[in-house]
Amino acid sequence: MNQKYIRNFSIIAHIDHGKSTLADRIMELTHTIDKRDEKDQLLDDLKVEQEHGVTVKSRTVRNVYQAKDGHQYEYNFIDTPGHVDFSYEVSKSLAASDGAILLVDATQGVQAQTVANYRLAKKNHLAIIPVINKVDMPAANVEETEEQIRELDDDLIEAEILKISAKTGLGVEAVLEAIHTRIPAPKGDPKETLKALVFDSLYNPFLGIIAYVRIFEGTLKTDEQAILVAENVNIQTNEIGIFTPEMKQVDQLSVGDVGYVVTGLKDPQLVRVGDTLTLKDHPTKTPLQGYESAKSVVFAGFYPKNNDYQELKSALAKLVLNDPSLHYREELSDALGPGFRCGFLGMFHLQIIQERLKNEYGLEVLTTAPNVTYRIHLKKDGEVKEITNPTQFPYFNEIDYIEEPIVNATIEVPNDLMSAVMKLADQHKGELMDMDSSAKNAELIYQIPVSEVAYQFFNELKSVSHGYATLDTEDAGYQKADVVKVEVDINYSPIDALSFVVHRSDAARLTQELVHKLKYTVPRALYPMPAQAIVEGKALARVDIPPLRKNAAVSATKKSISKKQDLLRRQSVNKRQAVKNNVKLSQEVFNSILELK
Ligand code: GTP
Repeated sequence: MNQKYIRNFSIIAHIDHGKSTLADRIMELTHTIDKRDEKDQLLDDLKVEQEHGVTVKSRTVRNVYQAKDGHQYEYNFIDTPGHVDFSYEVSKSLAASDGAILLVDATQGVQAQTVANYRLAKKNHLAIIPVINKVDMPAANVEETEEQIRELDDDLIEAEILKISAKTGLGVEAVLEAIHTRIPAPKGDPKETLKALVFDSLYNPFLGIIAYVRIFEGTLKTDEQAILVAENVNIQTNEIGIFTPEMKQVDQLSVGDVGYVVTGLKDPQLVRVGDTLTLKDHPTKTPLQGYESAKSVVFAGFYPKNNDYQELKSALAKLVLNDPSLHYREELSDALGPGFRCGFLGMFHLQIIQERLKNEYGLEVLTTAPNVTYRIHLKKDGEVKEITNPTQFPYFNEIDYIEEPIVNATIEVPNDLMSAVMKLADQHKGELMDMDSSAKNAELIYQIPVSEVAYQFFNELKSVSHGYATLDTEDAGYQKADVVKVEVDINYSPIDALSFVVHRSDAARLTQELVHKLKYTVPRALYPMPAQAIVEGKALARVDIPPLRKNAAVSATKKSISKKQDLLRRQSVNKRQAVKNNVKLSQEVFNSILELK
């Protein structure tokens, strides 16, 4: 297709504002899909996406649109996730686009991710088409939503804002027209040296690694020798193609095209998202800029449940290919053996990876208590250690002070719910920096430790505000923190994989709660086992896990008194030393820590 008739765009929005529904409508109106074939939300095909009803991975589809000006246009769109934990996916999609549809739900108005995604799109110099969705709903407040969109930025004061119902299809034609009139055609020269951005990749068990590319300069044909710049690996382009949304083979991809390349490579390390693909004979001297790598916020250990360490290793390598915001490295635990310390963008991300391992690779993992990165300043020589695993905590006597990461959290909430939200932020060690309660919605700005917001805060905020509060967080560096490591000993042996870090002021309460839970979750042995939570060398809480035992006195009815006495005597022998470290750790044991409030 002639370059001037190509449009590459993304759909960006806050979670649940209707991106995937609009994508389905666009595919239907351009006859990319047949209405009859339509499942609910065609693009969310990962099992985790269907189960949670959210988009986790971006999708790419080519549509052909017959416009009112008589021309046929090629519309390549990239559907993107809306949840905060997946904003890295959004930024990858935007780098491959020339424009974006900014979708806002008329019943909810502008929300945290609307603002964040709008800023990302602006940073990428994209043409933005604001669209208000769900106008069919009785609760829709179109005027107020329009006002909020205009307040986002001076550029939007005059912009034409479209009003649609992605569900019924009302107004979607106008969106299709706006795409070719308001988003520019891709720039670049098809005769130039090839420069293609690898913006995503996927592991296919039959074909090897498939790279998703957007061509910025030049033309890529089948049966050519190409090269991936970052790793300097050669590939032969045996198969290239487009997404319809299924993969469809084509002979060439030219400037502005979005498609795929079957690389034939099997090693996931070789294909990096953000890398530039160029031709071997005429390589580009100026590769594309690529992406900043995603910074992990939450860390946790993943250990294979069924002794399938090698399988877990290879599954993680393949998942990283599809989700470069996941980080992992090998680690060894005394209690659990070899496993991986993984870094995630947030708790929802952790949960999704855990479920993808199960759904896509049939692997179950034990997940240890999550934690953030701590900066530990040692007394000796002022040395600073950054640790992501509580087992690496230095001995408490060696520590001068500790710093933890914090965020600036902006919370918007209706005025009448403000006090409930303030109480919650207080419980989570939030420090109020600024507030503005002059409008209908109050705006509260807090500094909160990441360890407090990363886990349950978002859900609790939704619950105390009946779903009305929105949260936007921004990295605010590190701050001194009075935190301590809790070591858990069972039967007098420290269980490394159970250690975790808490604020000192919460230590006494949480450890009491924990040992009580351990009493019911640690599988019992034939002898009593004390479970202790130890902080700075002192046991803060202790409980005895009762033994499993056959009650000789009641069960052996036919035995003589002396035999019963003998049995009882044998059972009470101190078997403490007999089995050390033989505690079987199940996910329930780790959940005892995860569920602490
Ligand atoms: P994520 O992928 O999770 O970010 O969500 P999304 O933005 O893709 O939203 P999705 O398309 O999944 O829509 C969320 C819900 O809103 C679904 O239940 C849709 O059926 C519903 N919905 C979307 N658009 C409309 C609309 O125009 N009107 C009405 N009434 N419901 C809509």
